[in-house]
Amino acid sequence: MNRNVNYALLTQQLKSLTADVPYEITNLSNASALLWEVLPDINWAGFYKMADGVLILYPFQGKPACTRIQVGRGVCGTAVAENRTQLVPDVHEFPGHIACDSASNSEIVVPIRVNGEIWGVLDIDSPYFERFTEEDKAGLESFVAELEKILAR
Ligand code: SME
Repeated sequence: MNRNVNYALLTQQLKSLTADVPYEITNLSNASALLWEVLPDINWAGFYKMADGVLILYPFQGKPACTRIQVGRGVCGTAVAENRTQLVPDVHEFPGHIACDSASNSEIVVPIRVNGEIWGVLDIDSPYFERFTEEDKAGLESFVAELEKILAR
């Protein structure tokens, strides 16, 4: 299955969409919509932000999702606790996975860091097993690197 995404172009599109826009929720709304439009075979794409020591639901595309996730819980909370990307080929094998949409079978979560601290995470789910590759991981990490600059300004 060809799911190749031009991540350099995607990151460029993020830059264009957010140029001169100083509003965090506005930029994250467009970022989630962009991912939703461009990435094939996904059923959720969005953000959780750290607030009061927990991850809270932020702009996203997909079905309604859980509103709070504790650090260390689920794939999102593990990405924060371990401060690294979680590439999960089969969510049913991930201890403590939080099923917001029962259709999800694989997932990738990339931590977002601003001013040396974890700001939150980018979370993308797919109904297909093994949907996300090492290329997707590298591409999404570069997308997040651009997003970190936008959030820091
Ligand atoms: N599956 C995530 C929860 C968030 S939803 O996928 C949108 C997790 O285990 O952290």
